[in-house]
Amino acid sequence: MSARAATATGARPGWDRVTELTPPVVLPVLEALELLERGEITVQGRITTASNATLYCAIELSGMAAACVYKPVSGERPLWDFPDGTLAEREVATYLVAAATGWEPVPPTVLREGPLGTGMVQLWIAHDESFDIVGAINSGQLPALQRMALLDAVVNNSDRKISHLLPVTGAGRSRPAESELHVYGVDHGVSFATENKLRTVLWQWAGDPIPEEGIDVLRRLAEQLQAGLGEQLSRLLTGAEVRAARRRVQRLLSKGTFPMPPTDWPAIPYPPY
Ligand SMILES: Nc1ncnc2c1ncn2[C@@H]1O[C@H](COP(=O)(O)OP(=O)(O)OP(=O)(O)O)[C@@H](O)[C@H]1O
Ligand SMILES: [Mg+2]
Repeated sequence: MSARAATATGARPGWDRVTELTPPVVLPVLEALELLERGEITVQGRITTASNATLYCAIELSGMAAACVYKPVSGERPLWDFPDGTLAEREVATYLVAAATGWEPVPPTVLREGPLGTGMVQLWIAHDESFDIVGAINSGQLPALQRMALLDAVVNNSDRKISHLLPVTGAGRSRPAESELHVYGVDHGVSFATENKLRTVLWQWAGDPIPEEGIDVLRRLAEQLQAGLGEQLSRLLTGAEVRAARRRVQRLLSKGTFPMPPTDWPAIPYPPY
């Protein structure tokens, strides 16, 4: 299957409109970013299980079409522990850090104007719903999940649920990978708090040494957070939040181990799915 081949998803429970949806496509990252930044967005349905306005959309540019998710800031539900109207920016900030890892753990994501105002727009991933992601989490054997755990520790993700892990097998992958399975993480609106709020289903490696490839990525992130990446993040987050991200990377490097679950904060999202 070519990198552009469409993979249809069909109807899904929890959607209020499931007819004639634009199917997801697999695109190289740069093309995906251009499409997401400049394409014309048409809302096709709303994911009714989502707590915010999470919209399934078609996006088109010069004959290229894909499915995407669009979360307008105007549809964000206020939260007690994050400032109003900042979730879309946190999603994009997480994408930028994710992209800098080189692991491609988050689908291409941009901040832009859309039919309901400014919001985040992310490429829709046709994930493999038959894959046993719970078994993979419990086994603690999947490098893609261990990498996700490290990303979450860096961005201080407080909502890594099972349903925010999208396994993609075979032709659905957008990059050649060392294994037949890749996992994308989504829904990073509640990340980058200054205080420790890591809440996740990925505690399998708590206290374990971070593998060499993870240390290399952390070193690179530490440098980039002092330079261009730090500047990009400071357009999306507060100065204190960017400094806290730098401190988390430094702490991970100096300890060399995955974080332990917090004792003063729920360690696992509720519900975990
Ligand atoms: N880029 C994507 N590709 C494929 N599926 C996605 C994508 N983004 C979100 N989804 C699907 O839509 C569901 C809802 O999206 P998301 O979790 O981002 O919304 P939310 O409003 O934050 O919901 P909640 O607060 O209930 O977690 C996800 O659990 C996932 O199944
Ligand atoms: Mg969610």
